[in-house]
Amino acid sequence: MRTKIVAGNWKMNTSVAEGELLVRQIDFLLKDNTAPVEVIVAPPFTHLVSIASILKDNDSKVVLAAQNCAYKESGAYTGEVSVKMLKDLGCKYIIIGHSERREYFKESNEDLKQKMELVLNNGMHPIFCIGENLQEREENRHFEVVAEQIKDVLYSFKGADVANVVLAYEPVWAIGTGKTASAAQAEEMHAYIRRVVADKFKGYADEIPILYGGSCKPSNAQEIFEGDNVDGGLIGGASLVAQDFVAIIKALV
Ligand code: PGA
Repeated sequence: MRTKIVAGNWKMNTSVAEGELLVRQIDFLLKDNTAPVEVIVAPPFTHLVSIASILKDNDSKVVLAAQNCAYKESGAYTGEVSVKMLKDLGCKYIIIGHSERREYFKESNEDLKQKMELVLNNGMHPIFCIGENLQEREENRHFEVVAEQIKDVLYSFKGADVANVVLAYEPVWAIGTGKTASAAQAEEMHAYIRRVVADKFKGYADEIPILYGGSCKPSNAQEIFEGDNVDGGLIGGASLVAQDFVAIIKALV
């Protein structure tokens, strides 16, 4: 059985105090929730220490992710945060290759491969984002683009390592735009992604959770999550409102 996951990507939002309140609210709303869903929050780096301590004090089932990490292990990389530092703070997951990082910070597949290696070597789980932009979809190249992103970054790893990866299909045209992929478009791509993974990692492809991301909200989550190959969501905007985030979690079961 694949793990079902809902992860909240807070991006560059909230003050520390707002983030602390948000995580307390999420935790409170999930108190009686026994559904087998891994709930993840990915606050900004600056919030990780205090949020980790709140989660610990509350004996919470919510787990922590970082939104990014350095592609080097340690050393003279001013402004960067290493995988080991994030592990030290209690992060279990690290988001890698979000389209905003690819686009605004020019992260290449080669950079992502190095990050992936560090995350896996440290026994953590990458949430590896893939997805086409609007032009690529309109030119009917979306399958090709997504396959290339998977091959370029994942194919050089061993199956046993890839088993620790979470994939997130995030069509760039749906991120923060209010436009979602239809449930059929999401399932079609997720099934394709699983086939591309299976081409190289036969015994592992069925175990890898594939999340959908892009304007997912309480009103559309249930329909999107119905796809056999949709194992949860990576949620941006709606993860900043505790009630909405929890409604999305509840839509998964
Ligand atoms: P969105 O963002 O839900 O605000 O569209 C999703 C993401 O970028 O992870």
